[in-house]
Amino acid sequence: MTTTYEHDVLIIGSGAAGLTLALNLAPTLRIAVLSKAALTEASTYYAQGGVAAVLDKTDSTDSHVQDTLVAGAGLCHEDSVKLTVEHGPEAVQWLVDQGVRFTLDEAEHLHLTREGGHSHRRIIHADDATGMAISTTLVQRVRECSHIELLEDRVAVDLITTRKLGQDGDNRVVGAYVLNKDSGEVEVFRARFVALATGGASKAYLYTSNPDIATGDGIAMAWRAGCRVANMEFNQFHPTCLYHPQAKSFLVTEAMRGEGALLKLPDGTRFMPRFDERAELAPRDIVARAIDYEMKRLGIRCVYLDISHKPAEFITGHFPNIHRKCLEFGIDITREPIPVVPAAHFTCGGVMVNHHSETDIANLYAIGETSFTGLHGANRMASNSLLECFVFAMAAARDIDSKLAATEAAPACPDWDASQVRDPDEDVVILHNWEELRRFMWDYVGIVRTTKRLERALHRVELLQAEIAEYYSNYRVSANLLELRNLVMVSELIIRCALMRKESRGLHYTLDYPGLNPVSWDSVLVPGSDPAGLALVS
Ligand code: FAD
Ligand code: SIN
Repeated sequence: MTTTYEHDVLIIGSGAAGLTLALNLAPTLRIAVLSKAALTEASTYYAQGGVAAVLDKTDSTDSHVQDTLVAGAGLCHEDSVKLTVEHGPEAVQWLVDQGVRFTLDEAEHLHLTREGGHSHRRIIHADDATGMAISTTLVQRVRECSHIELLEDRVAVDLITTRKLGQDGDNRVVGAYVLNKDSGEVEVFRARFVALATGGASKAYLYTSNPDIATGDGIAMAWRAGCRVANMEFNQFHPTCLYHPQAKSFLVTEAMRGEGALLKLPDGTRFMPRFDERAELAPRDIVARAIDYEMKRLGIRCVYLDISHKPAEFITGHFPNIHRKCLEFGIDITREPIPVVPAAHFTCGGVMVNHHSETDIANLYAIGETSFTGLHGANRMASNSLLECFVFAMAAARDIDSKLAATEAAPACPDWDASQVRDPDEDVVILHNWEELRRFMWDYVGIVRTTKRLERALHRVELLQAEIAEYYSNYRVSANLLELRNLVMVSELIIRCALMRKESRGLHYTLDYPGLNPVSWDSVLVPGSDPAGLALVS
């Protein structure tokens, strides 16, 4: 007998987006929050810099909007930018009300730091471990709510829709199949509303700042269920991840450059002023590309981020977490520069949603990094991402609450059919394919692209897809297999979007088309709309 759950709202993901939605829905609802690992194991927990919002009298909504539009290189949807920025102060107040302890200045106001692309100090933070403060506080709050059921070690496999159940009429989501990692059973979760809050897909790349959960599951599930996705070619590479053989995915916050850190070559010379007048505070795409260029030009493995010219107390006061972490690797940042490299950091594209976070499928929402709201355009500005999570999760909560009365219960759903599969005999296939994928995505679909490299990558993705499809239909599913299947799917979407974009814009830079087209458009992929299943619609 398959384990079956029934809730009003199923939230897949326990990062900033998922927890904010859970806490903003009416307490009369039965809510489930799923997480693939522990509740805090999400990109949210690792966020360092902070949350951008207009909180200072000398700052303005217009200025935050303009900075976002400039960073987005002509592709931001201005209405989404305005909506997000206007709701910034409300989101920050909500976080403060939940008990998040942000760093205060001497006058006991929220301390504001600065990051690339921002023309004002407008980033609130909790030292250099903002995500940890937000995540632990929100997890504490949801644990206090008896109407919210928290289920860890659950991997959503696929969405269940009325179309999949063979029902006529508009396609509507009614739940999801979910792997219980402890029991190995695929359970059925029925729900009136489902929200994908599954984070990004940066694990598609060999080097990433993201935790292991960032495998694009929500984007792949939504795509398979029939949702459009957009702008998947815009993968943001953070310029400064710690370069050390034992340091897995450790970020060195952009706020350090905001507070005066300088990027240097091994001989100690600065190079950013040669690339952009904003030097170290240019938007991320420019800084990451400049580092990539210098590393390739000089044949060096890393560049250096130096803040040691500032007083030691200033450094340990502002960056205690990074100071501690670097010391573990024998680097004293108060005295010496930090070796850094760029790494995949943020997925700007995703599942297309409107201002209420609704997707193309009725009652299915996408929020946070998994969604495409139009906010980031061709390049996300630092610290706008957490803000997007809060603003759009709150919007989704309002929308769900307004639709409750008119939404019927989910129908019965068939059990997961595991009658035709056996236990896998060679899990090495998964490991091998995983490593192969991440390596060629880094080499061929990374910071600098060419059409030939993208075509090579597409060919390899297709080979992997055939192998994985065969594995998926013959063997019992595991978390590793599900993640690989999703990552390969999302990689295809990234490459297809990148091939369509015959220009260089924001984070997408190709040697074959180095210029910018005068007309800007989103690369929108529509499931099943041409022989390849993909089409450019705007
Ligand atoms: P996440 O926080 O990644 O949460 C995803 C959740 O989905 C997890 O709980 C995961 O277990 C769950 N999940 C995924 N797939 C499944 C599945 N199949 N089944 C069940 N559960 C699933 N942004 C800023 O604005 N400011 C910053 O300072 C900042 N710093 C950053 C530093 C680092 C190191 C990183 C990696 C990112 C940073 N970002 C920052 C980006 C920002 O943290 C993320 O974009 C944001 O936290 C995403 O939140 P989310 O809720 O969408 O996803
Ligand atoms: C950082 O602290 O540099 C990350 C900020 C972000 O990704 O928004």
